[in-house]
Amino acid sequence: MSGLTRPATASDLAWVAPAALHAHLVDDLPELLAISQAEPWRVRVTERGEAAFLGRWRAQLDDLAVLGLWCAPTRVPFMVGDLIEVARAQGFGRLLGPLVPESQAGPYLDAGLRIVERVDVLRLERPGRVAVTPPPAGVTIREAGPSDLDAIGRIDRASFPAFWRYDPAQLARLLSTGRGAVAEGEGIAIGYTLATISSGGSSLGRLAVAPADRLHGVGTALASEAVAWLSGQGARAVTLSTQSDNEASRRLYGRLGFRRLPDTLVGCASGPLAASH
Ligand SMILES: CC(C)(COP(=O)(O)OP(=O)(O)OC[C@H]1O[C@@H](n2cnc3c(N)ncnc32)[C@H](O)[C@@H]1OP(=O)(O)O)[C@@H](O)C(=O)NCCC(=O)NCCS
Repeated sequence: MSGLTRPATASDLAWVAPAALHAHLVDDLPELLAISQAEPWRVRVTERGEAAFLGRWRAQLDDLAVLGLWCAPTRVPFMVGDLIEVARAQGFGRLLGPLVPESQAGPYLDAGLRIVERVDVLRLERPGRVAVTPPPAGVTIREAGPSDLDAIGRIDRASFPAFWRYDPAQLARLLSTGRGAVAEGEGIAIGYTLATISSGGSSLGRLAVAPADRLHGVGTALASEAVAWLSGQGARAVTLSTQSDNEASRRLYGRLGFRRLPDTLVGCASGPLAASH
């Protein structure tokens, strides 16, 4: 290991915490302390006051993600090189860089990562203008609760490739911190949305409809209901991100009035990491 970064001590965490909170990586300092006690390799600092926050990307994958990186762009290649060694030492198969605007991806490419995912950010101004589209006959939309987690997980697994699929713990967290809604047909959940409001703004975090129930207007009804809910909470704009090659979602969101922001986000990854010994 190159030894550029080391696990954060309790006093390091006091200065890392504001950045981690601001990036919504943890809810509070006790959560950051608990993470770094249980898995000290996840919160890393350098003697220059740089920091990185790492976490498994998805339970079903062996990717380690750089969820937060606080250093000058010129230092990114050094930091990433070091974090690749951390990932290797912890037995992960790949290191993922943070999602960054494509215009800022240079230092990650210089570090030897390559672009593996592209994500568009879409934004809707004045969500109150969007008319709520009713669901098709026989389908109702209601708020989701913890008892819907299994059904939501099933729809999520059927709707997203492994890279983007949430694992059960991530879904439970999103549902407890955001507002979920499910579309139900004959008492069975067939689609869901997750909407969140934070200091960073209002967003539509997820939209999925079970494959057999698509193209009947369920997705449009769910999305417009979530937008109306966010507007009712005072949102002046709603943002969301979606895979750049997702034609169905771009068309659906475009019809609701979402517009693509100029800078595409990119996800970069290392090649496969061989074990260190
Ligand atoms: C996107 C998704 C939620 C749409 O659900 P849905 O119930 O089919 O949505 P609707 O029936 O309301 O509308 C679908 C629209 O997409 C269009 N569409 C569907 N598949 C398409 C495709 N492959 N290419 C282009 N347009 C497509 C439909 O023509 C329709 O648009 P139109 O009404 O203007 O003709 C659903 O396809 C899905 O769950 N996909 C996988 C998960 C996902 O991509 N989620 C969104 C990103 S977060």
